[in-house]
Amino acid sequence: MSQTRPLKFVSLLGSLRAESFNAVVARNLSLLAPAGVDVSALSSVGEIPHYDADLQAQGFPESVVEMGQAIAAADGLIIVTPEYNYSVPGALKNALDWLSRLPDTPVAGKPVAIITASPGAIGGARAQYHLRQILVFLDGRVLNKPEVMIGQASSRLDPKSGRITDADTRDHISAQLSALATMAARQG
Ligand code: FNR
Repeated sequence: MSQTRPLKFVSLLGSLRAESFNAVVARNLSLLAPAGVDVSALSSVGEIPHYDADLQAQGFPESVVEMGQAIAAADGLIIVTPEYNYSVPGALKNALDWLSRLPDTPVAGKPVAIITASPGAIGGARAQYHLRQILVFLDGRVLNKPEVMIGQASSRLDPKSGRITDADTRDHISAQLSALATMAARQG
């Protein structure tokens, strides 16, 4: 699918792990995006300090301001994350908490796609629905379908080579990115 105008998406990764399955997905997004869509990675959620209203009162951390500006300038946001204890990893939740406090919350009105990957059977589905709930308050426009929940990650993603080894998984992600592009182009 080719867009009528170039689109810029940014990706936010919920894992800090060097050999993360989710990082493999995040790093392959630009290869799987439709023509005319550029995907670049936001800085690591690990660079953001723990949310503290007293810290906020002294001024937003530069890492938060820069992340917010990058999201605001993008046509869409793709969140790629593991599931921790049936929910969203703390570092990702922390980043979203900070972003939600920025003036003109950058996620508001933004098309958002969610991808989860897990060694488990259901691919982080529970974290996806928690994340959707969180994004209600940030007023993100979360893409409903296709959902991408990558189960049994070690048979589909190879952190050593950095490749998505399963063709169906690549196709599924491509389909989601095309749907996000359609949504973002309509929003114009
Ligand atoms: C996990 N893991 C996990 N997996 C899952 O499918 N559901 C879950 O609720 C949890 N809970 C959980 C909690 C904590 C604290 C850790 C460290 C791990 C396993 C998790 O999916 C696995 O470690 C992934 O490999 C993490 O993703 P990355 O880092 O490979 O992208």
